[in-house]
Amino acid sequence: MSSQSSAGGGATAKVKRLMAPDIAAKKGVEPIVSLTAYHAHTAAIADPYCDFLLVGDSLGMVMHGYETTVPVPLELMIMHGRAVVRGAKRALVVVDMPFGTYEESPSVAFRNAARVMKETDCGAVKLEGGRRMAETIRYLVDRGIPVMAHIGLTPQSINVIGGFKAQGREEAQWAAIEEDARQVAEAGAFSVVLEAMAEPLAARITEAIAIPTIGIGASAACDGQILVMEDMLGLSPRVPKFVKEFGAVGAAIEGAIRGYAEEVRSRTFPAPEHTYAMRDAHMPGHAVTGKATKKPKKTSS
Ligand code: KIV
Repeated sequence: MSSQSSAGGGATAKVKRLMAPDIAAKKGVEPIVSLTAYHAHTAAIADPYCDFLLVGDSLGMVMHGYETTVPVPLELMIMHGRAVVRGAKRALVVVDMPFGTYEESPSVAFRNAARVMKETDCGAVKLEGGRRMAETIRYLVDRGIPVMAHIGLTPQSINVIGGFKAQGREEAQWAAIEEDARQVAEAGAFSVVLEAMAEPLAARITEAIAIPTIGIGASAACDGQILVMEDMLGLSPRVPKFVKEFGAVGAAIEGAIRGYAEEVRSRTFPAPEHTYAMRDAHMPGHAVTGKATKKPKKTSS
């Protein structure tokens, strides 16, 4: 999966797909750009602009209507992971390990992460947790699975945390979160997501560890940024404070659907240009309803 062919001006151009070490090497060099992606077509649109695409378990909330990410099954991650790998040619594709598939032991984590890698052809997995996941991260990395860590607000632990709360807003919380960052970096994670974290803490962590920090609600101090694509497109009904809506896609979809419904009801759609005519206009019993959209095939006799 590390490189793909694409047609360009007759010659076959090779597009090299970024790998986990390429992302790690960007620390201190250039900001890392990333988004979540869940479909082949949106992955293809985002691919030229993003260093990595995350098939995040937030897909359970933004696409499948769950209240939290807790119910998301592994099979769903694999299905969307495959679609994104098919759509993106250049960006590294990272797939989230959903709740319950990696916490029990390093070997359970390996079995499920290996399944994700083999069945999706993605380049890395992500899992939530700091110190408590360090041993598992080391186990996976030693066995060939690149791991992105995720600390700060970890939505899979929502039932313990008691809500989607920003982390590190009191200095008393800092030492534990800094230790999480240090331990996942030392365990071999190639990068770490910092979610919903007070700016000074995100800045301290970014300064202190050797791997890139990817912020989502963790300020511009991070080495890179990620947003949930549906949120930044303006497609989600509710978004957290840290989201900037760069588009109004929800409104555009609604406008298009309203127009369609009106035209169907007023019988102005489909128009003649959307309608197939008979090839032989003189066939008895068949009225010609419009122009054929495909030219008739030439016959050789
Ligand atoms: O699932 C997800 O979308 C994520 C991002 C918040 C980083 O993990």
